[in-house]
Amino acid sequence: MTELHLWLRHEARTTERRTPLVPSDARRLVEAGVTLTVERSPQRIFPIEEYEAAGCGVAPAGSWVSAPDDAVILGLKELPDEPAELPHRHIFFGHAYKRQPGAETLLRRFAAGGGALLDLEYLVDDDGRRLAAFGFWAGYLGAALAVLQHRGRLAAPLTPGSKEELDDRLRRVDGDEDFTALVVGALGRSGRGARVAFQVAGIDPTCWDLAETRDLDRPALLAHDVMVNAVLATSPVPPFLREEDLDDPARRLRTLCDVTCDVGSPLNVLPVYDRTTDWDEPVRRLRKEPPLDLIAIDNLPSLLPRESSTDFSSALVLQLPEFSVGGPWGRCLDRFHQACRELGVTEGESGND
Ligand SMILES: NC(=O)c1ccc[n+]([C@@H]2O[C@H](COP(=O)([O-])OP(=O)(O)OC[C@H]3O[C@@H](n4cnc5c(N)ncnc54)[C@H](O)[C@@H]3O)[C@@H](O)[C@H]2O)c1
Repeated sequence: MTELHLWLRHEARTTERRTPLVPSDARRLVEAGVTLTVERSPQRIFPIEEYEAAGCGVAPAGSWVSAPDDAVILGLKELPDEPAELPHRHIFFGHAYKRQPGAETLLRRFAAGGGALLDLEYLVDDDGRRLAAFGFWAGYLGAALAVLQHRGRLAAPLTPGSKEELDDRLRRVDGDEDFTALVVGALGRSGRGARVAFQVAGIDPTCWDLAETRDLDRPALLAHDVMVNAVLATSPVPPFLREEDLDDPARRLRTLCDVTCDVGSPLNVLPVYDRTTDWDEPVRRLRKEPPLDLIAIDNLPSLLPRESSTDFSSALVLQLPEFSVGGPWGRCLDRFHQACRELGVTEGESGND
């Protein structure tokens, strides 16, 4: 029996329909003795009634600010700008440990309130592998959008939908021409998702991972019609594409989807564009003749909120009952303290260790 009180918050971002915990997994936690409070949320893909039926308490949207001090607040994306002091422990993607804009402000809010950020990106096993991630669906959507664009069937703006609808549009129909596709980072979560989406579209992609890019064959890369980049770069490598490759008259490549979206980072393997695309304008033309279209959307899994939430939740729910016993959560907390030190943020005496 665990004494954990989890508080699932409403997401401040109005386009965010995902949740880190779906009702069926909420039920498992309640049955394991966790106290679970779920905030009402108009956009969450799962209705509040399903959480209620699973034995969760219900609270108004945004009421986590006055939750009991020992409650652990669970969410996905950024917190609202208020309150200035954060006394709770929060589980979410903080994007605050790589000197991102706003990182220091967020960490200072935790330090001022005595709370802590347990960043989901840093929830890892003993070997440093992520325990809960959205990568599969990012890759699935990246490849799906690339196929639709290549076949002239991508309509903007993009809106969240169901996998059934997406797959219906993805399937090959009479008159669709064959084309070649390349997935780089093919052995990872996103790469696997990309490969599955290509299969649904009737395309058998070339798959490259570390071994195939060590001695990069750019002409071979440029000989594919469509490329999906799904690598997780951890140390700098020569870029997969440079400006001069885009001007190569022998280029067959017409559609490029960058799932990785490391634009601006020293680790970027595709330094051929300077800003991401988005749901309103998913595609940017990088070259006119021959055409080269770019898709670089950094919130792809939100387009399939049900599937991506269910997948993520099924991994996270295994970790939550272990919350009080250190292990991955202890490492998350250590990483938070380290990030505070790196940014010169002094934590108060009342830290929730
Ligand atoms: N656009 C989005 O919405 C979105 C969502 C989730 C994740 N992502 C990003 O997608 C990327 C992949 O995430 P993941 O969860 O699949 O990671 P992962 O660790 O599961 O897989 C990454 C793969 O890339 C390979 N790789 C690393 N360097 C390589 C290189 N130089 N050449 C070839 N292969 C290489 C690795 O061997 C691994 O197989 C990350 O950068 C992540 O931040 C984007």
